[in-house]
Amino acid sequence: MVDIHSHFLHGIDDGARTVEDSRQMVRMAREHGTTVLVASPHADSQYRYEPEVVDRLLAEARAEAPEGIRLVRACDFHLMYDNVEDALRHPSRYTIDGKCYLLMELSDLTIFANTSALWTRLEEAGMRIILTHPERNPLLRQRLELIEEWVSQGRYMQVTASSLLGLFGPKALHFSRQLLDRGLAHFVASDAHDLRGRPPRLDQAFEWLSRYYTPKLARLLCIEHPAAVVEGRPLDLASFPPSAEVKKSSLLGRFFRSNGGN
Ligand SMILES: [Fe+2]
Repeated sequence: MVDIHSHFLHGIDDGARTVEDSRQMVRMAREHGTTVLVASPHADSQYRYEPEVVDRLLAEARAEAPEGIRLVRACDFHLMYDNVEDALRHPSRYTIDGKCYLLMELSDLTIFANTSALWTRLEEAGMRIILTHPERNPLLRQRLELIEEWVSQGRYMQVTASSLLGLFGPKALHFSRQLLDRGLAHFVASDAHDLRGRPPRLDQAFEWLSRYYTPKLARLLCIEHPAAVVEGRPLDLASFPPSAEVKKSSLLGRFFRSNGGN
């Protein structure tokens, strides 16, 4: 699996605290089936993002990493003026592996009226927007139509693995399902911050998707789409979401309804 969003590098944001935590997070990811792990430290007003520092930490992490896992640089790009201006001048400082995709985080407190216009400027400079964890944003949870509009304009949505497991609460889970049901979720990523509360694992979400949706959707969201992103390729959305397969969740729902359950 390919995990495009995590905070496993230590000492630069609210992710891993020590170098040992960082090493163990990489090991945990590998042990649970991740073969590419993207380091995406915060780039916001609280945490200064310095690609040179990230590259140095990544080189150290690669030297310690187990076989079979590739570590890649990106950032968790908060939508703010300074970030946008610098990204327009130096896109590859911010994008995933210096290619075209940018992990975009919005404020929990407000949705700027010019959000789409700012994204268009970034897109005109060659970047592609992946909005991170809309299901955890209370404002976006009330604006499904806005997410539909953004997706129709070619923006992508990343849902958090642990949201699917209910660990961000019932509202985040419910909204994640709305996104999945409508084909508005393109990626699942861990957004890992530590070993316990927010671990670098996609395997449980993969199983959850296979069980409640389809194995095909699990592969698209955890493997194929994120792999395309890391390689800088366009996503193949010609037959997305894979509607040919009947969702197991709706089959189960029908079974329980026909048997008098809720
Ligand atoms: Fe993050």
